Amino acid sequence: MNWEEKYQTGEVFWDRGAPSPPLSQYLERHPVQGRALVPGCGHGHEVSLAVQHGLDATGLDIAPTGVAAARALYPLLADHIIVGDVFNPAAELRGGFDVVLEHTCMSGLHPSLRASYRRGIDLTLRPGGLLIGVWFINPDLDPGEEGPPFPFSVIALTALFADGYAIVDDYVPDVSFTGREGRERVRVLRRLA
Ligand SMILES: C[S@@+](CC[C@H](N)C(=O)[O-])C[C@H]1O[C@@H](n2cnc3c(N)ncnc32)[C@H](O)[C@@H]1O
Repeated sequence: MNWEEKYQTGEVFWDRGAPSPPLSQYLERHPVQGRALVPGCGHGHEVSLAVQHGLDATGLDIAPTGVAAARALYPLLADHIIVGDVFNPAAELRGGFDVVLEHTCMSGLHPSLRASYRRGIDLTLRPGGLLIGVWFINPDLDPGEEGPPFPFSVIALTALFADGYAIVDDYVPDVSFTGREGRERVRVLRRLA
């Protein structure tokens, strides 16, 4: 998947122009503090949301054009939205985050890259920290589609974080973007020490 090309050609079909409703609801109900990483932050809506909730947030995305667009949308957060690879985070990002906020990064990744995603979370989230995810659950590809989003099940999510993490919250949210009703799962995992 050439993400940079998608941003250059404006084919950002996943972008809803606003922060994730289930993530917004979660942060309203569960105040969290500290440094937060938003992997695959795209246009930065969840970075903005995190900052509104008092987190010291960093958005990371592999696509420079996406990052430039995010900085233009949220100029006050320009220093908080950076180009980088969550699979191989820069030294200054390693081990320093209290929270990781997942929103449609995982579902955009080919299944063969999921272990690399998990490794990226392990490298950035401190022991005891929280991985707060709105996970897009996609039982199968729609006819004629190749992904993203790729098929991703609750079983696959459980398997990916079966060791080293404990589930602290898990539910189907009652708020969502139009068209994603019932297809998202809020699952919050605590990294074990
Ligand atoms: C489906 S988009 C979602 C963007 C954003 N989270 C949203 O909800 O609008 C997936 C994003 O992950 C980024 N991405 C893919 N692989 C990445 C990697 N290895 N490191 C950082 N970002 C990555 C892409 O450039 C893209 O912006």
